[in-house]
Amino acid sequence: MKRPMRLRQNRLMRDLVAEARFTRGQLLQPLFAVEGIAADQPITGLGETARQPLDSLLKRIGADLEAGVTQFLLFPVPGTKGESGFRPDFAAKTIGEIKKRFGSDLLLWVDTCLCSLTSHGHCGVFHAKGAHAGQLDLEATRAELANLAKTYAAAGADGISPSDMMDGRVAAIRSALDGAGLGETPIMSYSTKFSSCFYGPFREAADSAPKFGDRKAYQIDARNRTDAIESSVRCAEEGADLLMVKPGMTSIDLILPIHEATGKPVGAYQVSGEYASLTLLAEKGLVSFDDALLETWAVFKRAGAQYLITYGARHAKRLGL
Ligand code: PBG
Repeated sequence: MKRPMRLRQNRLMRDLVAEARFTRGQLLQPLFAVEGIAADQPITGLGETARQPLDSLLKRIGADLEAGVTQFLLFPVPGTKGESGFRPDFAAKTIGEIKKRFGSDLLLWVDTCLCSLTSHGHCGVFHAKGAHAGQLDLEATRAELANLAKTYAAAGADGISPSDMMDGRVAAIRSALDGAGLGETPIMSYSTKFSSCFYGPFREAADSAPKFGDRKAYQIDARNRTDAIESSVRCAEEGADLLMVKPGMTSIDLILPIHEATGKPVGAYQVSGEYASLTLLAEKGLVSFDDALLETWAVFKRAGAQYLITYGARHAKRLGL
């Protein structure tokens, strides 16, 4: 009889043969910088990740660094919105302050999208008039994204993370960065991003829910594997340095195929709805939060994820990582 249970009999034995574990340096902590609020505002289901004004955000980052977090993904949420011609002043100021205070102690990745900036909450801009009025204006969208990326990088962002899913945006961003002498700034692309029900708490936090329609015309259909892999392949060809699947927990089957097709590091985003499902289960007494979180992280690693964006990154040290 085969006896695999021998190597599972106690914790030290299990640790000896454990294969899959992230290091703390592979976990990214999301942050929401919100313009025009006076105090932290909690986000349903996201635990200690709140909407924050700059001063308290800086304190939070200081505490996170003490807790061993070194990688952050910043979502700037400006107070005023528009249709086009976005001014990235608030984001640039926030990035500048963070880098001034913490310098090279951290890597600051900045989510680059339009949905927190537009009055309609979509990730692109629309033709205002003419034959295509009301349709997405791809060229203008790419120009806006490229401009944001350039400003963020010039303000000190260590990396640009485009999450909009507009065709050709990585190429546009890469060439804008290169043209501005920012050739060293890497792009972490949300390269395989599905249209999903699991972004709910985030949209509340980023004030980015679409005011009409949905995002199905630009995000990937969850039924489509081929489209999902091709999307990451295209991002790699356009110059993305790091790729990502999102939502992570419902996309673990795609991590290895994308890595094999591109040779690039592929990470995952444990998105707000996925993370919130764990906090809400724990609130109802149905799971141990820490155990459930560690289980999901082990699965991401087992599936081949090189890095993970998770609202629980700041718990990693406490959890023994
Ligand atoms: C913006 C963006 C979204 C997320 C990250 N960047 C939401 C969306 O596409 O609607 C989701 C992150 C999360 O749910 O944790 N484009």
